[in-house]
Amino acid sequence: MAHDHDATADVYNPNFDDKAASWDDPAKRERARLVAESIVGIVSPDRTTRLFEYGAGTGLVTEAFGGRVGPALLADSSAGMREVMATKVLDGRLRDARVTDLDLSVPDAVLPDERFDLVVTVMVLHHVLDLDLVLSRFRTLLEPTGHLCIVDLDAEDGSFHGDGFVGHHGFEREALRSRLESVGFSDVDITDCGHVSHDDGTFSLFLAVARP
Ligand SMILES: C[S@@+](CC[C@H](N)C(=O)[O-])C[C@H]1O[C@@H](n2cnc3c(N)ncnc32)[C@H](O)[C@@H]1O
Repeated sequence: MAHDHDATADVYNPNFDDKAASWDDPAKRERARLVAESIVGIVSPDRTTRLFEYGAGTGLVTEAFGGRVGPALLADSSAGMREVMATKVLDGRLRDARVTDLDLSVPDAVLPDERFDLVVTVMVLHHVLDLDLVLSRFRTLLEPTGHLCIVDLDAEDGSFHGDGFVGHHGFEREALRSRLESVGFSDVDITDCGHVSHDDGTFSLFLAVARP
């Protein structure tokens, strides 16, 4: 399956705008619930925890945190996804949340003038070509006492996206640990975080937690 690639932005865009309206299905809700439970179990956020979710899509993971986090900033490069999140902010499904089009993979992106206790990114980084730039910006956005939580695909053979995909075919856990450490993160802990079923099989996910 071929996809569009916006080479000018260095970001692979598999038409997330078109998928936004039908994104929230039972499988994705269940994945978001498992991810949120796993992060809560490790990081123990509370109502004061300032959350930045990057590539938040329709905001399913932040929704699944419910009242267990504080104010949230939700970024996504897809206008369609942001539109769904904006609706959820208005009708209260996303409480105390703001939505932004911030794309940290754009070299001259202007970072927000605020800091966060928790940065979460789920199934996003395999789409990001300049990984070191985005990881180092996560570090900039975190308070020194904060946590970065990455959920993504374990290394796979390319069948998750199929032909034409120019992002990462998942991640080798130890290689990701090295990249996190090379941009300054420490205490990197990587554990299993369920599976995602797709047209071409079932793919395992990891949760990486790191300190800035
Ligand atoms: C596979 S979806 C995951 C959405 C959500 N995290 C979830 O788990 O349901 C990837 C999301 O990342 C967003 N995305 C991809 N590249 C991005 C970038 N460079 N900056 C911000 N968002 C990006 C896409 O628009 C899409 O909403």
